[in-house]
Amino acid sequence: MSQPLRLSPDKTGIARASALLKDGALVALPTETVYGLGADARNDRAVAEIFSAKGRPSFNPLIVHLPDVEAVRSYVEWTDTAEILASAFWPGALTLVLPLRPDSGIAPLVTAGLSTVAVRVPAHPLAQALLRAFGGPVAAPSANRSGQISPTTADHVERSLGGRVAAILDGGPCPVGLESTIVDASEAGAPCLLRPGGIPAEALEQALGHPLEIRDGSEAISAPGQLRSHYAPAETVRLNATEWREGEATLGFGPVSADLNLSPAGDLTEAAANLFGHLHALDETGRPIAVSPVPMHGLGCAINDRLSRAAAPRD
Ligand code: TXA
Ligand code: MG
Repeated sequence: MSQPLRLSPDKTGIARASALLKDGALVALPTETVYGLGADARNDRAVAEIFSAKGRPSFNPLIVHLPDVEAVRSYVEWTDTAEILASAFWPGALTLVLPLRPDSGIAPLVTAGLSTVAVRVPAHPLAQALLRAFGGPVAAPSANRSGQISPTTADHVERSLGGRVAAILDGGPCPVGLESTIVDASEAGAPCLLRPGGIPAEALEQALGHPLEIRDGSEAISAPGQLRSHYAPAETVRLNATEWREGEATLGFGPVSADLNLSPAGDLTEAAANLFGHLHALDETGRPIAVSPVPMHGLGCAINDRLSRAAAPRD
């Protein structure tokens, strides 16, 4: 299979990426969270290609990316919760699930037939530039084969997807390093956290002025992507390790000696940015991976969520 085009992060690269999207091709694009595998969200065939490139079960709906709130509002029914959260956190690492307008033109495969759609306004300057050049909605899951570790560099994308993607817009490493936080804001008054992510739940609750409901990922439709085994390296992953065992590839947090460290200073933002890159690197050693405990607050909740899925029993 031929390798994807590498597009440079400049006007030419953005114009080429936009032209490919208009042609119905798949383009990997950097966002502040992780690289996305983008396609024109109105093009059924292009969206179907996302699922086949990822090897993803087709019941799993995708996030639609748009350049600003005005663009988002032309596709969804807006709610008070959406207004509060969008003004506080967009552009940024937040995805809102909202009722889809019947005349939206979004391909049904994007929402997997649900009456709601997940929407996000990314902050990354290249994602912004591409969305504006393209001028339409871009459906994009993380740019990796289904179940594998999420990509935070163009090399990760190329290794996972190879020629299944036409081009990769290379924006260097993703600064946040964890997927967006997903909130169901579709019903008046009861916003619900569907996936912890790049924006800590505490920050959302502060903006809302009340606690978020948390919907269990095991529930049928709530967060169909929240499969228990996900982000999985080839070998096993052992969590909350306080000592290392013979033969393990070790991932520290805080002042411990390890092969790689998420953040020697114990900084959760730094740890989030390093998480997937370090997992990719340790995965390449072919050894089982052991990971230090990571505290369960702020971004630590999303980091532990991804780690526990990486460690979950595989089917
Ligand atoms: O940071 C991110 O969110 C990245 C970048 C590329 O934007 N994207 C990403 O997409 O993580 P993906 O496909 O890996 O995760 C999308 C999640 C899935 O868990 C899916 O179930 C959920 O969004 N989702 C999408 N539409 C939904 C809906 N209508 N209701 C509930 N959950 C939905
Ligand atoms: Mg993913």
